[in-house]
Amino acid sequence: MEDSAVTARLSQLMLQSLENLMSTNPYLEGNFAPVEDELTAFDLEVTGELPKELDGRFLRIGPNPLEADPKSHHWFLGSGMAHGLRLRDGKAEWFRSRFVRDDKVVAAKDWPPVPGPAGALQLGEGIANTNIMSHEGKTLALVEAGNLPVELDYELETVARCDFDGTLPGGLSAHPHLDPDTGELHSAVYSPLWNHIQYVVIGTDNRVRKTVDVPVPGQPMVHDCMITKNYFILLDLPVILDFEVAEAGYGLPYKWHPEYGARVGLLPREGSAEDVTWHEVEPCYVFHPMNGYEDEQGRVVLDVIRHHKMFDQDRLGPGEGVSTLDRWTIDPKVTRVHEQRLDDMSQEFPRLDERLTGKPYRYGYTAGLGADVSLGGIKKHDLLNGSSYLHNEGDHRVFMEPVFVPRSADAAEDDGWILAYVYDKTTDKSDVVVIEAQDFDSGPIATVHLPRRVPFGFHGNWSAG
Ligand SMILES: [Fe+2]
Repeated sequence: MEDSAVTARLSQLMLQSLENLMSTNPYLEGNFAPVEDELTAFDLEVTGELPKELDGRFLRIGPNPLEADPKSHHWFLGSGMAHGLRLRDGKAEWFRSRFVRDDKVVAAKDWPPVPGPAGALQLGEGIANTNIMSHEGKTLALVEAGNLPVELDYELETVARCDFDGTLPGGLSAHPHLDPDTGELHSAVYSPLWNHIQYVVIGTDNRVRKTVDVPVPGQPMVHDCMITKNYFILLDLPVILDFEVAEAGYGLPYKWHPEYGARVGLLPREGSAEDVTWHEVEPCYVFHPMNGYEDEQGRVVLDVIRHHKMFDQDRLGPGEGVSTLDRWTIDPKVTRVHEQRLDDMSQEFPRLDERLTGKPYRYGYTAGLGADVSLGGIKKHDLLNGSSYLHNEGDHRVFMEPVFVPRSADAAEDDGWILAYVYDKTTDKSDVVVIEAQDFDSGPIATVHLPRRVPFGFHGNWSAG
C-alpha cells in the first residue's frame, strides 16, 4: 500500500474509533445500563411492615445486554435478565437476578446450551426479555416476534425453551392475558415472517387449545391484545416491518408507516378469521391496553395507552413523545371507533386488578413516562368518576410498572396493594415498595431495600406461593 493510502486508512480508522467512543445510546446509560452479572441476596432490609398475606415472588424482567454497539443497539433487543423478590411471613427472604439464558449468553459465559425446542421461527439468539409470569406452575420469561418463551425454575434458573409440549405453532407473545373465569391464556402472536396475526389460547393444562390465523395486509408489530366477554381484540397498527431500516444496520427493523392505516379487530372468541370485524382509529401506536370490556349496549370499551406515533425518528427505542390514556368505544356494527382522551399526562405500563380482565372495572394503575422515556411516579385512575391519585416519592425515586395484588381472593376491586420496583438515583440502588392501593397517595407501608439497582426494563408480575 502507498504511504498516502496507509495514512488515509489510518485517519479513517482513527475517525471511526473516535466516532465509536463519542457515540452514546440513551438506552445504555444510567439505569438503562445493564448490571454486570447475576446476584443472590438473603434477608433483605425492610423499612416499614410487609403484609404477612404477601406470600410469593415479585418478578420482573428487562434487557441486560452483555455487549452492545451504541450506534445500533435497540433497547428492546438485549438478552433478558429476570429479577425476583421472595416475600414470606412479613420478611423479604431473598432477591435473585438471573440471566434468561439464550444462545448469546451461554456462548459468552461458556454455559451449556439451552435445552428445549429452538422454535420454527426462532430469531436472534432466542432472547426472552419482555415479560415474566407464572401459569399453572410454570414460570415463563416471554417475548414476541417469533421467539419461544423460556421456562425458569422457582429460583429463576433457566430450565428450557417452551413450546407447550409441541402444541405452539410459532412463537408466543409477551402479553398473554389470563381469563379470570376459565384460567386460559389469550395471546396475539406475530412474526416478521407472517402476513397474519395468530390468536393463541393456552389451556390450564399448559397446552395450546386453539389458534386462529387472521390475515393482515402487512407485517405489523403487535405487542399486546385484549379479551372481552365475547371478543378477542386485535391491534393492527402502523408500525411495520421495514427492510430499509434493517439494511441500515439497526437491530429492530420496524418503522412508523401511517399510510398503512390503523384498526382494531373484533374476533368472536370461538369464531374464525372470517368473523373478524375491523374498526378504524386515527393512526397511532398502542403497546398496552389497560383493559377492555363490553358495556350494557354491547359496545366494546377499550382503554389504551396511545402513542401518537412510534419508531418514526428514534431508531434505538420508543422515544417519540407523550403517550396518553385514551378510551376507544367500538360499536360492532360501526366501522369508526369513537376515541376519547381520558388523561393527557404522559404515562405507560397500565395495569388493573386482573380478576377483572375483560370485565367492567373501575380502577387502573400506570407509571409516569416522560417524553424522553424518563419515568417518575405512579398514578391510580378512578375511571368511574374521572379522578386520579399520584404516588410520587421525589424526583430521585423512579417507579417502574405498578402491579396490583388483591388482599385476598374475594377482596373488593382495589382492596390490596400496589407493588413496584423503584430506582433511587441518590443511592444508585433499587427498592421494592408496597403501597396500600386504597391509600395510594400516602407513603409506602413497606420498602424492601435491594443490594443493587434493577435496570429499567419492561414488565413484572406477582406470583403467589
Ligand atoms: Fe409490553
